[in-house]
Amino acid sequence: MTELNIETRFLHAIEMGLGAWQWGDRTYWQYGHNYGDKEVEQAFFASLEEGIRFVDTAEVYGSGRSERLLGQFLNKTEQPVLIATKYFPFPWRFGKGTLPRALKGSLTRIGVESVDLYQIHWPTPLMATDTMMEGLAECVKSGMTRTVGISNFSQSRMLSAYSALAQHKVPLASNQVHYSLLNRTVEKNGTLARCKELGIRLIAYSPIEKGLLTGKYSVDSPPPGTRGRIYAGLLPRIGPLLKLMTEIGQDHGGKSNAQVALNWVICKGALAIPGAKNAQQARENAGGLGWKLTEAEVANLDEASDAILES
Ligand SMILES: NC(=O)c1ccc[n+]([C@@H]2O[C@H](COP(=O)([O-])OP(=O)(O)OC[C@H]3O[C@@H](n4cnc5c(N)ncnc54)[C@H](OP(=O)(O)O)[C@@H]3O)[C@@H](O)[C@H]2O)c1
Repeated sequence: MTELNIETRFLHAIEMGLGAWQWGDRTYWQYGHNYGDKEVEQAFFASLEEGIRFVDTAEVYGSGRSERLLGQFLNKTEQPVLIATKYFPFPWRFGKGTLPRALKGSLTRIGVESVDLYQIHWPTPLMATDTMMEGLAECVKSGMTRTVGISNFSQSRMLSAYSALAQHKVPLASNQVHYSLLNRTVEKNGTLARCKELGIRLIAYSPIEKGLLTGKYSVDSPPPGTRGRIYAGLLPRIGPLLKLMTEIGQDHGGKSNAQVALNWVICKGALAIPGAKNAQQARENAGGLGWKLTEAEVANLDEASDAILES
C-alpha cells in the first residue's frame, strides 16, 4: 500500500460531513417545492461556517444537479472542501473502463481535477467485484481521486473488495451504509467492527433516519411522499426513544434530538453525513459535534432503540 502512498487516514479524522442527495432531487425529497438552489446553497455555506468540510454527493443525485451545484458553490469559496462522489452501476455500463469515464463526467460537473473519495454507489451482480475494483484502482492511479470506497456492500462483499483492491496496492478507504438509532444492521452483523479492524471508515447515511429522529414527524403528521409509506409501521413505535433522546439532550444543555442522534452515530465510531435542505437544518446538525454522550447514555439509547427494532 505504501508503494502508491495512498493515505486514507484523513477520513478517520472527520466525524461529520454534509449529504447532498437533497440538492436537486425532486422524486424523493421534493426539490423545488419548499426549498431549492438558494436554500441548499445556504445549507452548504452554513455548514462551512460550522466547520463541516466534507460533502457527499453522487452522479445520480438530481441527475447530476447535485454535483453541478457543488461546483457552483465551490467557486464562491476559498475554503478547502473535501469531496466524495459516487459511481452508479447502471446495467448498460460494462467493464472497468466505465469507472474512470464516469468519474471524468463527475469531475466536469463539479469543475475540479480530482475528488477525495470515489465510491461505488451499490454493488451489482452485472459486474464482478474484481472488475469494479480494477476500475477504481485506475481512478486512483490516474490521479482523478485521492481514495476509493464502496457503498451498500455487505461484509462479505466488502472483504472481497478489500482484497481485490489490495492486489492493486490500493487501500479500501470506506463503506457508506445506512446507520442510525433506527437502523443498526451494520452494528449488529459485525460490519462496523470489521471496518474498524481493517481501517475502513464506515460512513453513516440517513443518520437521523430521514428526519424521523428529529421528533418532528408523528402518526398524525407523517413525512410527505415515499417516506410516509416507508415509515408507516415504524412511526407509532418511536415515541419512547424520542422522549429519552430529548431528556438526554436536556442534560447536555438543550441539545436537540437531531444532535443526539448524530452524536450517537459519532460515539459508535462512524462518520455521519446528515442531509440538510436549508441553513437552519445544517446548523442544527453541525451542533451534533463538539460534545460527547456518556457511555451510560449511549447504552440507554441502545436499549431504547433495541426495544423498537426487536419488537
Ligand atoms: N449511499 C447511499 O445509498 C445513500 C443513501 C441515502 C443517503 N445517502 C447520503 O447520506 C446523506 C444523508 O442521508 P439522508 O438524506 O437519506 O437522511 P438524513 O440525513 O437522515 O435525513 C435528511 C432529511 O432530514 C430532514 N432534516 C435534516 N436535518 C434536519 C434538522 N436539523 N431538523 C429537522 N429536519 C431535518 C430533512 O428532510 P425534511 O425537512 O423533508 O424532513 C432532510 O432532507 C444523503 O444526503 C446522501 O448524501 C447515501
